[in-house]
Amino acid sequence: MRVLCIATFVIAFNSVGCHVIGLGKRQQDDAIATPGISELRPLPWGKVNFIHTTDTHGWLEGHLLEGAYNGDLGDFYSFTMRMKQKARHLQRDLFIVDTGDTHDGNGLSDVTSPRGKLSQPLLTHIPYDILTIGNHELYVNDVTQDVVENFRPHWKDRYLTSNVYFKDLNNNRTVSIGEKYTYFEGEFGTRVLAYGFLFDFRSHGNRSVVETVRHEIEQDWFLDSLTAHEPDIITLIGHIGLRFNEFYILIDAIRNVYPTIPIAILGGHTHIRDSVKYDPWAAGIESGRYFETDFSKDNVTFARRYLDQNRQTYIYHSVDNNETEFDTEVGRNITNTIFDLRKENSLSTILGYAPQDYYLTAADPKTNSSVFHLIMQEVLPKIVAKEDLKNPPYFLLNSGGVRYDVYKGAFSKDNMYQLSPFEDEFFCIENVPREIVLRLLPILNKEGEALKKRGVWPYNERVPQDQQAYLHQQEVRTPGYATTDDFGTDGDDTVHVPIPYFDLPAFVANDVPSTAFIDIIYADFIDSQLQDLLFQLSHKNWTVIKPYGNVTSSTMWVDFASKYWSP
Ligand SMILES: *[C@@H]1O[C@H](CO)[C@@H](O)[C@H](O)[C@H]1NC(C)=O
Ligand SMILES: *[C@@H]1O[C@H](CO)[C@@H](O)[C@H](O)[C@H]1NC(C)=O
Ligand SMILES: *[C@@H]1O[C@H](CO)[C@@H](O)[C@H](O)[C@H]1NC(C)=O
Ligand SMILES: *[C@@H]1O[C@H](CO)[C@@H](O)[C@H](O)[C@H]1NC(C)=O
Ligand SMILES: *[C@@H]1O[C@H](CO)[C@@H](O)[C@H](O)[C@H]1NC(C)=O
Ligand SMILES: *[C@@H]1O[C@H](CO)[C@@H](O)[C@H](O)[C@H]1NC(C)=O
Ligand SMILES: *[C@@H]1O[C@H](CO)[C@@H](O)[C@H](O)[C@H]1NC(C)=O
Ligand SMILES: *[C@@H]1O[C@H](CO)[C@@H](O)[C@H](O)[C@H]1NC(C)=O
Repeated sequence: MRVLCIATFVIAFNSVGCHVIGLGKRQQDDAIATPGISELRPLPWGKVNFIHTTDTHGWLEGHLLEGAYNGDLGDFYSFTMRMKQKARHLQRDLFIVDTGDTHDGNGLSDVTSPRGKLSQPLLTHIPYDILTIGNHELYVNDVTQDVVENFRPHWKDRYLTSNVYFKDLNNNRTVSIGEKYTYFEGEFGTRVLAYGFLFDFRSHGNRSVVETVRHEIEQDWFLDSLTAHEPDIITLIGHIGLRFNEFYILIDAIRNVYPTIPIAILGGHTHIRDSVKYDPWAAGIESGRYFETDFSKDNVTFARRYLDQNRQTYIYHSVDNNETEFDTEVGRNITNTIFDLRKENSLSTILGYAPQDYYLTAADPKTNSSVFHLIMQEVLPKIVAKEDLKNPPYFLLNSGGVRYDVYKGAFSKDNMYQLSPFEDEFFCIENVPREIVLRLLPILNKEGEALKKRGVWPYNERVPQDQQAYLHQQEVRTPGYATTDDFGTDGDDTVHVPIPYFDLPAFVANDVPSTAFIDIIYADFIDSQLQDLLFQLSHKNWTVIKPYGNVTSSTMWVDFASKYWSP
């Protein structure tokens, strides 16, 4: 009986969960040191192995303020090269995969126009075997065009967009951005048939087109692709949450042709560590994780591992802890290039010093260690509300517009991009009766599910609660992800102390002022939803001041940090 193994080492730069061995070298010079980590376990190698990144959102510098996640793209490059060498030595196939969302979330990706001019070329160093597109490549036409013209060609037939298209203005044709599928053979003989899908995303720019998965599998190309080849394994990569309907539809369609072929699924988008077993021969893994599978033709077993993103983890797994064997010239070069680019673009310039930590999901949004509390009680009143308001302000935001924590200490321009990459303007509606204002938040939060279509998921990110506590606990265990998935609780490569997690409402606001009339100040992103609701509640159209003030949800942080957090 032929036995193959698939191991997926998934490293997410953006999503959490890190931990480290011993005292590592710092990746970017200004990254905080790596704390000590508990013992790691060797990765069980299979005959076929995958390394997977997803939702990197420009975090190519790594997490400078979280030692456990402080690897950078140069370190990751060296890791992929060393793992490829190791795979060759073991005579196993190893494929490297990315499942999209390379924009929006970090200065390195967002400081240019269009976004991605600095970060996308850096990503082309990584020896990815297959990639797919994320929704954050599709909001803005110029970004999509840059992907089409400058990123996708580098990958030739390995950039897979089975259901995503771009309108070519030269001939008005709508063409697939990448290949709809690919078929290839690994160095050690594994025959792979691979597809790359996006979830049913609607808020894209008007030059891209996203078809539903259901539509695509009914087209001739899909069935033809399945029957034209004799793969050992089908690899479905997707910027799709593992538990989204899309993957179940695809697996059903494949099972009509191949009832028991092993299907390895690499998902993304929802920024969580997760692993799902769909049937005895199909399993998937999502985001910064590691996945390992054993299978034979009629009997498949799956296992997985989620790696933290740091040098010590890389060095342990790729070169058996011998650091002198780890670095590569190109990897060092990438590290230096990232450092220089951050400096040239003032991303590392310190604007002020945060007095404490403020968490996105690790604190109750109503308490003073929540970033939403900070925004509602300090940033919006001090920076956005103007003195000549007619009435006390009611601030209203979609929680998905805030993307990260603030850590005590230096606050840089890069932290602004991490917190708020969307650059929403503020709008204002004056003189709204209090009884109407009181009704807004409950109704909006009910409707809030729709906003998730934007892809600004309320992440499941778990981050150190307190840098001090974090460092004190290093001898014991590092706070971070404690993942439970379909395979159990042993997936995290580094064992973490779980961090509290608070489910965020879709919308957040300050307490409704007690005056009879109130001025509502809100993010432009929710404009039409709010106006519709106000019309519904008051049967009149309201005058909107747009924009209100001249700061955005991003630049308010620069103003605030410079003014109130300066040393
Ligand atoms: C594309 O379509 C637009 C609108 O229909 C039209 O104005 C334009 O001339 C067309 N361009 C080409 C190259 O056919
Ligand atoms: C497409 O969107 C852009 C803004 O993103 C807008 O300026 C343009 O008018 C739109 N074109 C069409 C045909 O809707
Ligand atoms: C399938 O795998 C299980 C566990 O590895 C093993 O016990 C069983 O005998 C296998 N079945 C076949 C048909 O190979
Ligand atoms: C580490 O690697 C270097 C270079 O290959 C080698 O000279 C050295 O003996 C190794 N150290 C250990 C402890 O294996
Ligand atoms: C290092 O980076 C520079 C600038 O991107 C490039 O010109 C040079 O070829 C790189 N060297 C190596 C070894 O990658
Ligand atoms: C934050 O809240 C806690 C308890 O609710 C309180 O003890 C503490 O003084 C508050 N800190 C600040 C800076 O307001
Ligand atoms: C409100 O605005 C909408 C769209 O701008 C318009 O169709 C409608 O007639 C207006 N209704 C009232 C009551 O002014
Ligand atoms: C924004 O507003 C502030 C004061 O409200 C003013 O000092 C500043 O010059 C304005 N900036 C721009 C670009 O208009």
